[in-house]
Amino acid sequence: MKQKSIFITGAAGGIGRATALLFHSQGWFVGCYDIDSKALDVLSEELGTRCVAGVLDVTDKHAFDDALAHFATCTEGHLDLMFNNAGIAFAGYLDDVPFEKVRSMVEVNIMGVLNGIHAAIPLLKRTAHSLCFTTSSSAATFGAPGMAVYSATKYAVKGLTEALSVELARYGSRAADVSPGIIDTTLWDGVRYAEGAVPTRLQNMAVANRDRTDAGRTLPPEDVAACVWDAYHGDQVHWYLPPELVDRDRAKATDPEKLRDELIAQAADRSAARHRP
Ligand SMILES: NC(=O)c1ccc[n+]([C@@H]2O[C@H](COP(=O)([O-])OP(=O)(O)OC[C@H]3O[C@@H](n4cnc5c(N)ncnc54)[C@H](O)[C@@H]3O)[C@@H](O)[C@H]2O)c1
Repeated sequence: MKQKSIFITGAAGGIGRATALLFHSQGWFVGCYDIDSKALDVLSEELGTRCVAGVLDVTDKHAFDDALAHFATCTEGHLDLMFNNAGIAFAGYLDDVPFEKVRSMVEVNIMGVLNGIHAAIPLLKRTAHSLCFTTSSSAATFGAPGMAVYSATKYAVKGLTEALSVELARYGSRAADVSPGIIDTTLWDGVRYAEGAVPTRLQNMAVANRDRTDAGRTLPPEDVAACVWDAYHGDQVHWYLPPELVDRDRAKATDPEKLRDELIAQAADRSAARHRP
């Protein structure tokens, strides 16, 4: 049987790194790409053989084409799983977020994913049962207040993936996404672009939610990696982590105003609690 292969963006940290380690441990050939060259070196060293690593900024389409072309030389032109995972988040009410931060989220989270998919389709077409997988977010179950632009980018990823799950079927390929809730990664460090400008509830969220037991609980990145594995071996279009996050998507679909009003009430409660003497 031909060696299975996965190409991962944002592979040097968090979810991407956990996914690289899992697939490698299962005998796959792993392509690791990220802007963080130091963390990539650490990962490559850890993986040893059966991998290729490269510095890649997903917003650079030419660099993406080159990275996939080089990856293909290592896999005899095959690609079983394209994992468009790299993403960034900045929080704050839209009117407080500097516009270059807004633009960078759109560039990385939408254009970065499009660059990857467009470059990968020729390889996916050539590989039986291949999967184009993307990282959406729980922020694409209901628009996330305080993370409006991030939310919008993740809705875009989800819509794109849904459409491709139909388009790619004509080649025998698949497309699916995962919507993780709160995952314990450095994403939450970067969220705080300016102390004070970010709604309190979004600061240190991965740490703050560790004791929760509901759908907002903090999960390790390894759980998302396991979900990528399940997605390759399964047939779902949308995956949720934790799985009960799907309830929010369903609740929104039937009664978005109810969910909106609940979120407004929760924000008012939090504000009142903060101002209580
Ligand atoms: N952590 C969470 O709670 C959470 C929840 C839902 C969705 N997500 C999504 O999961 C994905 C992975 O994030 P994470 O939580 O592992 O965060 P992370 O910050 O730990 O890892 C993201 C990786 O992407 C890399 N990266 C950033 N910009 C890049 C670029 N332009 N080109 C290539 N690589 C780039 C970073 O160097 C980093 O290694 C993102 O798309 C994020 O939006 C995360």
